Parts: sequence; structure tokens; C-alpha cells
Amino acid sequence: MIKNLNAFDLKGKNILIRVDFNVPLEDGRVANTFRIKSALPTIKTCLELGGAVVLMSHLGRPNGKINSKLSLISVGEELAGLLEIPIKFSDNCISDDAIDTSLSLRPGEVHLLENLRFHTGEESNDLEFASKLARHGQIYINDAFGTAHRCHASNVGILDHFKHRGIGWLVEKEIKNFERVLKSPDRPLTLVLGGSKIKGKIGLIDHFLTKADNILIGGGMAFTFIKAQGGEIGDSLYEPSLIDNANSILEKANKLKTQIHLPIDVLAGNEFDNSSEEKVFNTSSIQTGWMGMDISTKTIGAFEHVIMSSNTIFWNGPMGVFEKEKFSTGTRRICEILKTAKEAGKYVIVGGGDSIAALKKFGNDNWVNYISTGGGAMLESLEGKQLPGVKALN
Ligand code: 3PG
Ligand code: MG
Repeated sequence: MIKNLNAFDLKGKNILIRVDFNVPLEDGRVANTFRIKSALPTIKTCLELGGAVVLMSHLGRPNGKINSKLSLISVGEELAGLLEIPIKFSDNCISDDAIDTSLSLRPGEVHLLENLRFHTGEESNDLEFASKLARHGQIYINDAFGTAHRCHASNVGILDHFKHRGIGWLVEKEIKNFERVLKSPDRPLTLVLGGSKIKGKIGLIDHFLTKADNILIGGGMAFTFIKAQGGEIGDSLYEPSLIDNANSILEKANKLKTQIHLPIDVLAGNEFDNSSEEKVFNTSSIQTGWMGMDISTKTIGAFEHVIMSSNTIFWNGPMGVFEKEKFSTGTRRICEILKTAKEAGKYVIVGGGDSIAALKKFGNDNWVNYISTGGGAMLESLEGKQLPGVKALN
């Protein structure tokens, strides 16, 4: 059994928390605070119950080298503002100074360590690196769901050094929500998938064939399926190497009676920008010179019908090139339809950076039942894979 924060006496202890503060930066400032805000409940519980908190995270992929552009300093500033307390910062996560700072923390204080990936030992799950990190705390908490698909020193190797170890509120909430979708959904369960990249999502579709009642596929990834069925997709992008996979998914869906809904019509463009002309085609007969950029009216209507007759809906990936005004209708309508579904009592879960960005762009996201902080970690758990960072805590 994995323990949560309720299992520990936090008073007077140093709680070392692995968080995922791998957030987007713009001009050196945090551009999106979602992951930082999502870690606050765990941090606050530890502080309120008399503990001191040491936080560690990676940011970007510095490949074991110090890179000032990937410093966690600006994340620390953001965090201090959100917690409304000053926080301590160490520019080397395993230096003697950093460990001394942790050992002298008083209850209610927070110490943020610099980017773990400035050391090669993090990603290589190095034993010595892990044992140095472990000196920061007496209790270890993993609240870095977004990183749980990695097997690194701060979420796997480090565990050997802790008798008292468990998960934070965020990881607990993520696991519960994915179980709700995969193990005991209120049916019908519908997966709404989009985005341009089909590669990372084949495993997920395959796994959902045995779980979901309906799979709606929009976005660029739909064209690989349409091409597989023999459709004329014009200049639309598709993945030639996955045509066979697409075909076997369609066959398997047929056998399992899982409904896969592909776009019926698309809004196509002759250029990849706002100056492009627009034309609607039936999806299977797009002319040369045109590429599908968004789902169109008939598809939106069909998807709406399926969504509104479902009780649990998981959405990942935009329906088209929604960053461009002309091709944003499909994604905007999906956001609106999901909101109506939620208001009608259906359970709506959303994951993936583009979908979250779309929700914000076309309104707000505060109505969604659950939004995952995971990218790769979310996709892997929805594929049914055990996440190393969670498994290691068992
Ligand atoms: C993510 O954003 O996907 C996680 O923080 C993990 O980062 P990584 O893909 O660089 O390992
Ligand atoms: Mg990633």
C-alpha cells in the first residue's frame, strides 16, 4: 500500500518533496503556473502540520550541465508569491551548503533546490547522487506526477534511503482520476483524441479499445486512419509508418464493438497560416493542394452527439490548428460541448498541454472535473503502464 500524507507525523520533520516544476518559461519568467499551483496543497499540509519543506525538481533537459536559462530561481519567486512567505534557495542541489540549509530549517520554512538535471546523476539514477539528495529530509514525498514515467534518482533511487515515504495529494488525485476512467467509469466512456502526433498515442488508443465505448479521433492524427481506410487526404499530414497500426486498431475496434468515430468532413487550407483560403471537404476526398486543418460542421455535430450521450469523457489533443483563428472552430466547439456535458452532470477529464491551452483560450478551465498535470506520464498511465515512480513506492 502506498501511503499518503495522513500516514506520517510531520511535526518537526524535514519533508523532502519531489515536485514537477518543469514549467514553461518565457523571457526567464514562469509562463504557466499550473504545475506549481497543483503542488501547493501538499506543501501547505506539511507546513501547517509543523514540518519544514525541501523541494526538488527538474526543469527542461540541461543534460547534466549547469544552464542558467533552466534555473529554478524564477519558479522559486513564483512559489514564494503563491505561498506568501520567503523561501530559501540553493544553487546546487547536493552541495554541503544546501544540505546544511536543509538541516537548519525551522518548522514552516521552505527550501527549494536548484534543477536536479544540472547533475548527470539524476537521469542515470546514480546511487551516490541519490544518497546525497536523501540527506535533505527525514520523510520523502513524491508529488511529481508529471515525472512518474521516469526512473530517476529523485523518484526511484532515493527511496532506498527512506523508511518513511509516500505520495502527496497531487499524485494521489491523479492516480484516483485515472483509476476512475480505466477501472470504474460511469458508462458510456468516451475518449476524445486529437493533436497532430499519432506516434505517442497508438498505445493509448489500443488500450482504450478494451476500456472505452467510443473513441472520437480528430486533429492531424485522424488522417493516418483515413488514409489507412483508403481515403484521399490531399496534402494532409499523416504518418506512413503507422498505417498498418491504424488498420489493426480499426479491425480490433470492430471485433470489440468499440465505436471509433473519425471526422466526416474537414475544413482544409491551401496554406499553413491565417492567409490560407478555406474549403470544406468530405474527409475521404480532399483535393491535392489542400490539407485538413480542422474538423467541420458535420463532424462537430456527430462528436457532440456522442459526447452528450456519454457519462465519462476524457479529452486529450486539439481538433485542428486552433492557434490559427480560421482553424480554431472545431477545438473551440469541443471545449463548449464538454462544458455543456459537465453541466449536464457528466464527468469530464482533460489532459495535455494543448488541450489545457485551448480551454484557457476559449474561456476558462475552472469547470472541468479534473485536469491532469501529466504529459508523458498521463499518456503512459492511460496506456495501462505502471509508472516507475509510483511502482517504486509500493
Ligand atoms: C514532462 O513535462 O513531461 C515531465 O516534467 C518530464 O519531463 P521530461 O519529458 O523531460 O522527462
Ligand atoms: Mg515530457
